[in-house]
Amino acid sequence: MEKTIALIPGDGIGPDIVAEGVRVLDAIAKKFGHLFTYKPVLAGGAAIDAVGDPLPQETLDTCLACDSVLLGAVGGPKWDAVPGHMRPEKALLGLRGGMKVYANLRPAVMFKQLSAACPLKNEIVGQGLDILIVRELTGGIYFGDRGRSADGNEAWDTEKYTKPEIERILRLGFSSAMKRRKKLCVVDKANILESSRLWRDVAQSIQKDYPEVEMSFMYVDNAAMQLVRNPGQFDVIATSNMFGDILSDEASQITGSIGMLASASLGDGTGPGLYEPIHGSAPDIAGQDKANPLATILSCAMMLRYDFDMGKEADAVEAAVNRVLDDGWRTGDIAGTGADWDKVKAEGKLVGTKRMGDLVIKALEAM
Ligand code: IPM
Ligand code: MG
Repeated sequence: MEKTIALIPGDGIGPDIVAEGVRVLDAIAKKFGHLFTYKPVLAGGAAIDAVGDPLPQETLDTCLACDSVLLGAVGGPKWDAVPGHMRPEKALLGLRGGMKVYANLRPAVMFKQLSAACPLKNEIVGQGLDILIVRELTGGIYFGDRGRSADGNEAWDTEKYTKPEIERILRLGFSSAMKRRKKLCVVDKANILESSRLWRDVAQSIQKDYPEVEMSFMYVDNAAMQLVRNPGQFDVIATSNMFGDILSDEASQITGSIGMLASASLGDGTGPGLYEPIHGSAPDIAGQDKANPLATILSCAMMLRYDFDMGKEADAVEAAVNRVLDDGWRTGDIAGTGADWDKVKAEGKLVGTKRMGDLVIKALEAM
């Protein structure tokens, strides 16, 4: 198959890791007889510096004209002082809104090879960790009306959802649960928020379409606590934009491998999806060949699976990553601390960004 992919390397380590994602995609193309062509575009701080706009129209147009979009990371302290509407993060929200990718899938999985990095006690994580967070991505308070009073003494942001916006997320939550352990937890704050009560109404009205899924509701404050108390109780979590933003960071951290976690942002399937690692731009290590490219490489696997319907290819990428981890190869962020780190180092298995990319490609070729 022939596919075009828009590349948004962005800021900080973004260019380092996107380069490795592309190399892995090329290795897949070669192995399975596809042709991927890439269209690099600017967004975030890099675009502010180059053209004075975090999300140039041309970038959005190019993304919409491609079959898929791979994004590294945007933002960094360099642009902290720019006004709100010009911040690099505007590029992310603008891309999500402009591409209409309303559902964000964030799998929080603990790689068994890295279980030592999990900050939770063994008796708590027990059988491992495998949670899928389905976050609403183009509505709610991040997109609602906001403002400040003329005297500057008052400010507001608005949480607002329509039934169709809620329904499409919950249906994705239910259908994802069907492919997993058949449990869906809808997280909200229905004891206070009217919008949350609408989420519950919609969930209850569509539940009958998924009789095999065990659905539950949980308040977000409790969910934050349960995630560290007993994370094994969760399979799929579906929630609003802001709650999903917060809980997905928490869930990723308890896996101990934030440098490993991928994400996919999907719309109704008629346009491209947006794929990105969930970690940030880590400006302190940018350009030093230190960043872990695996979350980006795993995001490419999600792209293959969801946008290109290339399940075999996606499986191959995931298997290659697991192979490399099985063989003990580690970038600094997943090498552990103290004696663990010393051991990885002594065995010569501490590697940089490019070498990690090489190892995944080698594992792919050997399959
Ligand atoms: C994320 C990030 C973004 C968000 C920021 C950078 C705007 O935290 O992808 O979770 O809040 O959505
Ligand atoms: Mg976030």
